[in-house]
Amino acid sequence: MTSLTDRKNAAISRGVGMTTQIYADRAENSEIWDKEGNRYIDFAAGIAVVNTGHRHPRVIEAVKAQLDRFTHTCAQVVPYESYVHLAERLNEITPGDFAKKTVFVTTGAEAVENAVKIARAATGRSAVVAFSGGFHGRTFMGMALTGKVVPYKVGFGAMPGDVFHVPFPIELHGVNVEQSLAALKKLFAADVDPARVAAIILEPVQGEGGFYPAPAALMRALRDICDQHGILLIADEVQTGFARTGKMFAMEHYDVVPDLMTMAKSLAGGFPLAAVTGRAEIMDGPGPGGLGGTYGGSPMGIAAAHAVLDVIKDENLCERAEQLGGRLKQRLAAIREQAPEIVDIRGPGFMNAVEFNDAKTNLPSADFANRVRLIALEKGLILLTCGVHGNVIRFLAPITIQDEVFAEAMDILEASILEARA
Ligand SMILES: Cc1ncc(COP(=O)(O)O)c(C=O)c1O
Repeated sequence: MTSLTDRKNAAISRGVGMTTQIYADRAENSEIWDKEGNRYIDFAAGIAVVNTGHRHPRVIEAVKAQLDRFTHTCAQVVPYESYVHLAERLNEITPGDFAKKTVFVTTGAEAVENAVKIARAATGRSAVVAFSGGFHGRTFMGMALTGKVVPYKVGFGAMPGDVFHVPFPIELHGVNVEQSLAALKKLFAADVDPARVAAIILEPVQGEGGFYPAPAALMRALRDICDQHGILLIADEVQTGFARTGKMFAMEHYDVVPDLMTMAKSLAGGFPLAAVTGRAEIMDGPGPGGLGGTYGGSPMGIAAAHAVLDVIKDENLCERAEQLGGRLKQRLAAIREQAPEIVDIRGPGFMNAVEFNDAKTNLPSADFANRVRLIALEKGLILLTCGVHGNVIRFLAPITIQDEVFAEAMDILEASILEARA
């Protein structure tokens, strides 16, 4: 009989990389069961999509209720109250004490595309500055903004123009905030007039790039530079949003506010929904009909998102993220005593990562990170790697994970790291 993997390889483009060969049968909170009945603890959460756990009962209930009423009208044709109300809620809870507006789309990449469109329309400028190591999606503008060539840009031809990159400050890799800002200054002197720059976009914590938080000094300086030159600051919170970092949004860790923010992933707890929220006058830059999309703000995604916001508040998930992240980092620090390959443990809230170097060469070791990932998978724990060097394991378990399942995962993690050394 042909295996599912063989069928997958024959039927699906190899361009869709798949990190496991587990075929999901059902999932509940932080656990997934495959077709054969094997159970896995999910420390990927669909890449930060189910911060509120797989099939949170309140999310499921909200979506079921919506299914019984209507499933699609296209909000641009016949809108619905829940759509307007969710925009009101996002305008209220996103950082910034000023009038805001929102647009709903379907994916994170689409949110990024629209944030750039809005910034260009509002400023009448076209250039955009992003950071090396940043990830902003797989559409053309998302890809152009992304600061990693393999696998995201390779083979896809000319990128949209007027996109510039500067190094992201990562002290561990020898780049500090001053160097990063010096590169930006040089960019403005050598390559692009800041008066032509519509926006600077960054993730408050780089996600795919390796879970590196943006230093507060960088964020403050970027805000000043933006204000000085009339440039808009876009925070890409697609991966960092919705309690992951111990705050509803990672930008709440900083004393500066972005002009525009992108959201997706955990916004709707497993249903496709994304949004851009920002200053009302900027959001009104594009003319009527310039924004939107057939499925943008789908009724099921909107219903799910209302439940997600309620769950985060009622279950104190920001606090819970802090607790779980604290425990995880403590456990990793203990493991580090026996594993010199661990060179860094980091991340706010429950957006944590561990970085590995080769014990002999002290160079980044993607091989070690991958060995840990595969051993853990064998033992029933799903982990994800990330980072420009591929030597980082990132932890993205649902924030609703039960204590006993979390403890079990910690034991598997420790055993996997120690076994990878053998
Ligand atoms: C920060 C960031 N921006 C954009 C995206 C793209 O989102 P999507 O895969 O939903 O298009 C991602 C996805 O990982 C992301 O992490």
